[in-house]
Amino acid sequence: MENIKKAAMLLKQDEIVAMPTETVYGLAASILSKVAVEKIFKAKGRPQDNPLIVHISSVDELSKYAKDINPLAFVLYKAFKGMPLSIVLNKNDIIPDVVSAGLKTVAIRIPNNDIAIALIKELGAPIAAPSANLSGLPSPTTAEEVFDDLNGKIPAILDGGKCAVGVESTVLSLVSDTPVLLRPGFVTFEMLKEYLPNIKMSESIFKTLKKDEVVSCPGMKYKHYAPKTKLCMLSGDMAKIEQYLAENVTDDKGVICFEETKVKAKNKFIYGKMSDANSCNHLVYSVLREIDEYNLNLVYVVSGGNDKEFLAIYNRLIKACSHNEIKF
Ligand code: TXA
Ligand code: MG
Repeated sequence: MENIKKAAMLLKQDEIVAMPTETVYGLAASILSKVAVEKIFKAKGRPQDNPLIVHISSVDELSKYAKDINPLAFVLYKAFKGMPLSIVLNKNDIIPDVVSAGLKTVAIRIPNNDIAIALIKELGAPIAAPSANLSGLPSPTTAEEVFDDLNGKIPAILDGGKCAVGVESTVLSLVSDTPVLLRPGFVTFEMLKEYLPNIKMSESIFKTLKKDEVVSCPGMKYKHYAPKTKLCMLSGDMAKIEQYLAENVTDDKGVICFEETKVKAKNKFIYGKMSDANSCNHLVYSVLREIDEYNLNLVYVVSGGNDKEFLAIYNRLIKACSHNEIKF
């Protein structure tokens, strides 16, 4: 509690601090401090046209920060209470342009993490927070990973241990007649479709957009989630993937795979169970960071496909692989 008070004090003094959320660590600023929000972009090296997610402590606050709210937003925040869902809505004037990167909309979510909620309450204002990594690197899911990226650039990190979910929130736009899934996450397309039968997926989920392309989710056009090591995704028939690995893996290469994957490799990194996509979400970013310590020439990434719960992780991994993929 003492640390949360100190962190809130820093935020009130136009500073930024890293905080845990249930998804990944965030780099927090008060939405009311333009100076602090600008510090976020500087510390991360984040492109100016990429808007920040606003974190509130309760759905009761929503109408202070968004206007012309699609009533379905209330239904969804209730239905997915405690789950990581950011909804893009029309913003109120109180949200500064620097937070929304000049857009008329704002993505809002309610984090399910006691430290994040306590910090918002202690500050008395919503928190704007992107993931607390250097722009382009995998998101941090431990305080140590935040330290590795931002040591010397920020005054404090609140340590909440390993993040429960491990990949960033689902981002859903409700600003036009057709709801659009902008970024897949723990709350899946299928879960949302039960409430939004006409929901569409943004094409940015599957392809990398050009730098100057105008898009509904600006963050999706930048290189993301990528370690320094060259990656190649292997997807499709598992028996064929295992055969390919047996024929191609040498000591200078690595394999990121499932517990279930049958492969002999000197550099093998397990990111979860193929039978449980959420176990992979939990570990994937730490594994992507870890492989850079081995100076490998190439790392194969065994994919679990892009269906249902695996879409979120596929979306991160295919970008980490720069769309370098062999299909079997
Ligand atoms: O789980 C999360 O969402 C984490 C934690 C810290 O809350 N935050 C996070 O923020 O992942 P960031 O900045 O790394 O990713 C936010 C994504 C970006 O792709 C951004 O373009 C998109 O959300 N976004 C934010 N505001 C938007 C808006 N008004 N319209 C469309 N996309 C928006
Ligand atoms: Mg990010």
